Amino acid sequence: MILVTGGTGLVGSHLLFELASEGRPLRALRRQGSNISLVRQLFLWYDPVRGQELFDAIEWVEGDLTDLFSLQEAISGVSQVYHCAAVVSFLPQDREVLLRNNVDGTANLVNLALSDNIEKFCHCSSVASLGVAPRGEMVDESLVWKTSGDHSWYAISKYGAEREVWRASEEGLPVVIVNPSVVIGPGDPARSSAQLYQSVKNGMKFYTSGVTGFVDARDVARCMRLLTEGDFLNERYIVNSENLPYKDLFTYFALYSGSRPPKYRAGRFLSEMAWRLEKTRSFITGQKPLLSKETARNANLKRYFSNKKICQALGIRFRPVEEAAKNTSRFFNKYPIFLSPDFRVPL
Ligand SMILES: NC(=O)c1ccc[n+]([C@@H]2O[C@H](COP(=O)([O-])OP(=O)(O)OC[C@H]3O[C@@H](n4cnc5c(N)ncnc54)[C@H](OP(=O)(O)O)[C@@H]3O)[C@@H](O)[C@H]2O)c1
Repeated sequence: MILVTGGTGLVGSHLLFELASEGRPLRALRRQGSNISLVRQLFLWYDPVRGQELFDAIEWVEGDLTDLFSLQEAISGVSQVYHCAAVVSFLPQDREVLLRNNVDGTANLVNLALSDNIEKFCHCSSVASLGVAPRGEMVDESLVWKTSGDHSWYAISKYGAEREVWRASEEGLPVVIVNPSVVIGPGDPARSSAQLYQSVKNGMKFYTSGVTGFVDARDVARCMRLLTEGDFLNERYIVNSENLPYKDLFTYFALYSGSRPPKYRAGRFLSEMAWRLEKTRSFITGQKPLLSKETARNANLKRYFSNKKICQALGIRFRPVEEAAKNTSRFFNKYPIFLSPDFRVPL
């Protein structure tokens, strides 16, 4: 039996489909009240014939990374664990939630995996946990994290989570770690990287000059399965297809969703103004800001990620980012209900 955490999220749902299609027996952790209707639709999107049957074969168990007893039940009788659950937020006020769920939650899971003698533990980390390279330099797996005020709490929490996994590996847990760049695919458009699609669809007018790595969710899932099932131990792998300007991704989304691409470049000055205005609005209204200092500044950075190690290990050819954007847009063109908050009513 295989346990997948974060199965209702963008990465986890694609991983569930990847593993289910290969006939693996699956148990998926979901929190009380979390919605699985998008996961079911994804299964049908990728496999109209067998999708329902593959989805029905998943054993869903209720639990939370912060609740040790629920994890204990979820992991019992399991031989492999894929850990995709995490809080993804760039809001500084989510600091505590990020540290509790991502760092402490991962510590809970690896400790149980150690005591249950799990055969292989695949951890979904992030390029955020690699640290920041000197300007313009290509980042690879050897980059050493340096503490600085430039890191978001999300990055710090993902770094802390990855450290817990390395600690468990030193204590005897066989692990493999993936560090995906920005993941593109159909997912809940209210959270994680799936929000980028929603912004373009909503008619976002501005783009920034930043560059980063992007990767198709289907390729992340495939890499995770191949690394876990193969002979790869105690290593981390950047999972990235292409390094592109954000503007290119937005243009692909607009092209395939029938929207207008963002037209105006928001330079540093405008971005700095925007996050300050959002902070003020959030203070006055009590609502969460739509933009934080971290997101505004990251959107102007140029970051390049090497996929040499994973390509050499697996011989994989990544789908182009345009293909990922097309798949995402077509999914939402066909099922626009998932762009509305109505679908989040728990099933
Ligand atoms: N998306 C990206 O661009 C990207 C890039 C690099 C790395 N990653 C990493 O990939 C992983 C998955 O991200 P994602 O994009 O799929 O995020 P997502 O769509 O927001 O999904 C997050 C998942 O984590 C679950 N979760 C959060 N806190 C939990 C807790 N305390 N207990 C149990 N489950 C919990 C959520 O469950 P509920 O449904 O109950 O909320 C959901 O299934 C994360 O580790 C993230 O850091 C993502």
